[in-house]
Amino acid sequence: MPADVIPYEDLGAVNAQYRAALDAAAKEVLDSGWYILGKQVPAFETAFANYCGVQHCIGVGNGMDALILALEALQLPAGSEVLVPSNTYIASILAIVRAGLKPVLVEPDAATYNINPALLEQHISTNTKAILVVHLYGKCADMDAIHAIAKAHRLYVLEDAAQAHGALYKNVKAGNLSDIAAFSFYPSKNLGAIGDAGAVCTNHEVLDNRVRLLRNYGSRKKYHNELPGTNSRLDELQAAFLLAKLPGLDALVAHKRMLASMYNELLSDAVQKPEVHPDYFDAYHIYPIRVAKRNELRQYLLEQGIGTEIHYPIAPVQQAAMKDILQGQQTPIAVAIHDSILSLPISYCHTPEQIERVANAVNSFLKS
Ligand SMILES: Cc1ncc(COP(=O)(O)O)c(C=O)c1O
Repeated sequence: MPADVIPYEDLGAVNAQYRAALDAAAKEVLDSGWYILGKQVPAFETAFANYCGVQHCIGVGNGMDALILALEALQLPAGSEVLVPSNTYIASILAIVRAGLKPVLVEPDAATYNINPALLEQHISTNTKAILVVHLYGKCADMDAIHAIAKAHRLYVLEDAAQAHGALYKNVKAGNLSDIAAFSFYPSKNLGAIGDAGAVCTNHEVLDNRVRLLRNYGSRKKYHNELPGTNSRLDELQAAFLLAKLPGLDALVAHKRMLASMYNELLSDAVQKPEVHPDYFDAYHIYPIRVAKRNELRQYLLEQGIGTEIHYPIAPVQQAAMKDILQGQQTPIAVAIHDSILSLPISYCHTPEQIERVANAVNSFLKS
């Protein structure tokens, strides 16, 4: 790659620092001769539970399955309504559908991009059973306000923490802020596997037990099936890779936070920057800005050799797959965010000099 190109992300470069540990992890699994639910999965489950400060962690196949299994473990009546932000990755909504439940969209706060607690109550019906919050872009949702409403209406609270490894709300880690939480270790996440992987975290023993059964054909004892489960076990190799990478997670988040504070300082106030608030320790999975001429800015940056992404280009309500499922639900705030949001490079592979160049390029575009 030419030296003056700034890619949006370079996972090869991010993982290069772990190369020796990843090679050793792969060798250990290969040499063990035990490839499904061997030693690595429980070792990672314990390490990640400790990291999040929760009592239980269950490794599963990916983040989407983590969400489905977390929802299924609650044993809600079929067709129950689950409140979910209208501004999220489609998986949060699809998981509710896959679990046989009904997604009810709630608009986000335009400053944090996360579900707006002030809008929850107007969507609660006698059929509402849970709130699935999403800690989008690595910022936790407004948990105190959400829990107050959940308590008043006897609703479960779930976290989609797929983008929030290492984020905190009032000094409590994402994954430990609800009844049950789902993580994705998709390769580009702050804690990324070398393939698909996910996990469920909870402090409830009953839910831990149920997810543990559900991920493995509903079976605790080989060939004895207690529940109609599925096969979504965390892969032994991925568990070994994640164990090798977990010790580096805090340094990665610290690096991203340093780059984010540079953007906050250097970028013109003509763009909307991520909100900074002392209650929230943001993990900056993504550094999103909002700008009116988003597509033009993206093209301009590309011409300067700067890669960007859009998270996400199409709002859930506008997705073809959601036509029947979300029929009649209007989410203008989410649509406006999708039309104006742009993710700037913010990765472990980026240097402060590169961030300065990106910020200068954004500012020059805005002046022109
Ligand atoms: C918010 C959110 N939820 C769920 C998922 C699904 O995770 P996975 O791709 O591991 O299935 C992702 C990531 O892709 C995500 O960003």
